[in-house]
Amino acid sequence: MSRIKIIGTGSYLPEKILTNLDLEKIVDTTDEWISTRTGIKERRITDENTAVSDLMTEASKKAIEMANIPLSEIDGIIAGTITPDMMFPATACIIQKNLGIKNKFAFDLSAGCSGFIYALEVANNFIKSGNYKNLLVIGGETLTKITNWSDRNTCVLFGDGAGAVVVTESSDDSGVLSSMIGAAGEYGDLLYQPAGGSRMPASKETIEKNLHTVVMQGSEVFQHAVRSMQSAGEEVIKAAGITSDDIDIFIPHQANIRILQSTAKRLKIPIEKVYINIDKYANTSAGTLPIALDQAVRSNEIKKGDIILFDVFGAGLTWGAAIVRW
Ligand code: COA
Repeated sequence: MSRIKIIGTGSYLPEKILTNLDLEKIVDTTDEWISTRTGIKERRITDENTAVSDLMTEASKKAIEMANIPLSEIDGIIAGTITPDMMFPATACIIQKNLGIKNKFAFDLSAGCSGFIYALEVANNFIKSGNYKNLLVIGGETLTKITNWSDRNTCVLFGDGAGAVVVTESSDDSGVLSSMIGAAGEYGDLLYQPAGGSRMPASKETIEKNLHTVVMQGSEVFQHAVRSMQSAGEEVIKAAGITSDDIDIFIPHQANIRILQSTAKRLKIPIEKVYINIDKYANTSAGTLPIALDQAVRSNEIKKGDIILFDVFGAGLTWGAAIVRW
């Protein structure tokens, strides 16, 4: 077995829409500013009774249905998220219970927006080890639950949603042709949630100071994002033995339309080949890639044999990319 392939995709987005016009009533911003600086028009948000495992469970059900394999043949679950239902148990274990999968491993993985590609890379190597055959890989987030709704620099950027894939051994020429993941922990303080962990447990003070929400240095993150996504993209293109011209569809992390345009230009991929849904869903962090993939698959924008480039960047700082032949 030389590679793994994706045999099922699914996604789930909460129904409630928060538009830029709605945000104009919450912070000092405008639809015009948000649209031109980020490409975002609206995003989905969960209600108070919905947690990330609920979104991930729905996305997983669809992916498993498309994969058309019995639950008993799923050998494990890896969930990429930074907005778990709770600190423990792992959200993946909650999803396992929701789906009715028994006696298989389940764990979460924290890699910021790169969570899905990290999880895919782990699944890739687990399956190649020969110890597992079919794995459920999920990326999703309820970022609006850790958003500081008084900070216009960040609250306009994020949304909620989840996507999932089922991966298995590939017996033909389709599948993951190349992949990589990376990190630079020295830049961790450019994008983080200060409180709620062992460094700064929840207290009256952390709540009063709004420290359980996203803190970000936007323009620094922007520059790192473009550089990292370019080098990650170049690395996997080279490792797959192809050129940019061979790519049929580029699915980048949906963080900011300008990051996406800039990365595509640096990788010499025409904008018509870039999958964009940031206008509707904003940045769903670990959710962006599997949601976009599922939507592209279900709308027949991806055909058998197509070469897909995934490329992502996130808190950590982390990044990752993969070339997949469909
Ligand atoms: N509405 C109106 N004005 C806003 C605003 C908003 N929602 N958010 C910020 N501004 C203001 C700033 O206060 C600043 O004003 P000042 O010049 O008076 O201080 C001005 O707009 C420009 O800010 P700047 O940070 O230079 O803007 P930018 O062009 O870098 O865009 C981001 C800001 C956040 C949209 C952009 O940096 C970005 O997308 N960064 C990457 C974020 C990201 O993707 N994070 C997740 C990574 S996975």
